[in-house]
Order: sequence, then structure tokens, then C-alpha cells
Amino acid sequence: MVVILLGPPGVGKGTQAVRLAEELSAAHVSTGDLLRAARREGTDLGRKAQGFMDRGELVPDGLILDLVREHLSSFDVGTPVLFDGFPRTEDQATGLDELLDEMGRSVDLVVLFEADDEVLVKRLSGRRSCPEDGSVYNVYFNPPETEGVCDRCGTDLVHRKDDNAETVARRLQVYQDETAPLIAFYGEHDAPLERIEADREVDDVFADFRRTVSTGSAGDRAPRERAEGRG
Ligand code: AP5
Repeated sequence: MVVILLGPPGVGKGTQAVRLAEELSAAHVSTGDLLRAARREGTDLGRKAQGFMDRGELVPDGLILDLVREHLSSFDVGTPVLFDGFPRTEDQATGLDELLDEMGRSVDLVVLFEADDEVLVKRLSGRRSCPEDGSVYNVYFNPPETEGVCDRCGTDLVHRKDDNAETVARRLQVYQDETAPLIAFYGEHDAPLERIEADREVDDVFADFRRTVSTGSAGDRAPRERAEGRG
């Protein structure tokens, strides 16, 4: 099973992916998390990615595809995979198809999470993350028990550098310009695409997400909403 979580910054892709990956024992492949890890470790990739990420621009496709290829080789070929924040351009989507093809796999389902920009801006301004274990909180919607401290491991939470107002505005624009065209791309390439209204409680979004993935990956995809004509 290969599922792509598509949607703008702050819509909740990471929140939902972590939960479902745990439930399904699936690999959660977040290129954003992989890039932040590379930055923390001070690798060559981390240094190359830094400026793009801080400006809210996309990291070049070649670097991303190399990163994903290397990461996929680290687990068994049949492992269910949830891609979060990848692909983000048509070249990445084509590269992913080629990569999966080499492995005898293909994209089973694309899930598009949607919410209005004002919701996204509020979520991103309130997000706090644990640099140690990756837990995500929100000062408005999901605060930690002790302010500024991770419930799970006690590490001080951080406000992501790219969650400032100026960079968030840029990221939303980059999403519209470079990633939203993937909605039509997957429609044209006949990959099933399902939409989920993400401006609801986390548990309600998750219930829809789980149902959508279990239906989509079981081969019985009705009712299916095609992107064609709706993107
Ligand atoms: P990345 O880390 O992927 O960021 P993003 O796509 O902008 O997504 P976010 O992590 O901001 O949001 P999310 O949808 O995961 O929301 P979350 O669950 O955290 O990428 C960062 C940068 O890396 C990019 O700008 C780019 O430079 C680079 N990059 C990464 N991948 C790349 C690629 N493939 N190609 C090129 N460059 C790439 O939730 C957000 C907040 O809302 C949290 O506080 C959460 O608690 C809260 N929340 C979630 N759901 C709900 C809900 N239902 N109700 C209330 N609050 C909620």
C-alpha cells in the first residue's frame, strides 16, 4: 500500500500520518522531517536545504528524490508507506512513479486534505514541536500539559523557524503554484484521489482518513471523487 498525503502547510498531514502509521505499522515518510533531521545532523544535504526551507521555498527536486530513494531502501520492499509532504512538484511525482515502478509498486491512493488559509495560518502560528521525538502540539488547539515542554519526553518545545508570518505566506503561495497542480496530475494519471475536509476535530478527520485508506487500499474505492474538473 502506497498512500500520498497531499495538502497545504498546516492542514494536518503530519498529525494524521503519525497516527495512521502507528495503527497500520506503516512507514511514515515525511520529507520535511527527513530534511530537518539532515539539518540537525549537519549533513551536506542539510546545509544545501537550509536556505530554501528558511525562505519557504521548495528544496530542488533532485535532492528530494535522492533522499526518498535512499530512505525507501532502508525498509522492506512490501512495507506500507504513507508519504507526507512528498511529492510536491510534477517532477517529484514522475520521479516517485519511476522509483516505485523499479520496486514493482505504484501509488494506490492520494488523499487531499483541505482547509481555508486562515485556519492554516492560525495552526502554524500556534504549532510547537519537540525536536527530540517529533511530537507536535498547538498552543490553541492541542497544548502540552506543561507549557513549552514535551509531554512524552520532557524536552523544551520549539517554534519552527519557518512558521513565522512572512514565511508561512510564502509557503502557502508555493503550495498553490507548485504543489496544487498535482491534484490535476493525479486525476490525469488515473490515481484515485479522495478529498477530506480537514477543518474539523483531529479525531473526526482521522476517522475519515482511516476509512478512506482502508477502502482505497482494499480495491473497493467507491464512492470515489476524481480530481478531474474539481481542482
Ligand atoms: P514540511 O515539514 O513538509 O511542512 P509543510 O508541508 O509545510 O507541512 P507542515 O508540517 O507545516 O504541516 P502539516 O500539514 O504536516 O500539519 P501538522 O500536522 O504539523 O516542509 C517544510 C519545508 O521543507 C518546506 O517548506 C520545503 O522547504 C521543504 N520540503 C519538505 N518536503 C519537500 C519536498 N517534497 N520538496 C521540496 N521541498 C520540501 O499540523 C499543523 C498544526 O496544526 C500543529 O500544531 C497541529 O497540532 C495542528 N493541527 C493539526 N490538525 C489539527 C486539527 N484537526 N485541528 C486543530 N489543530 C490541528
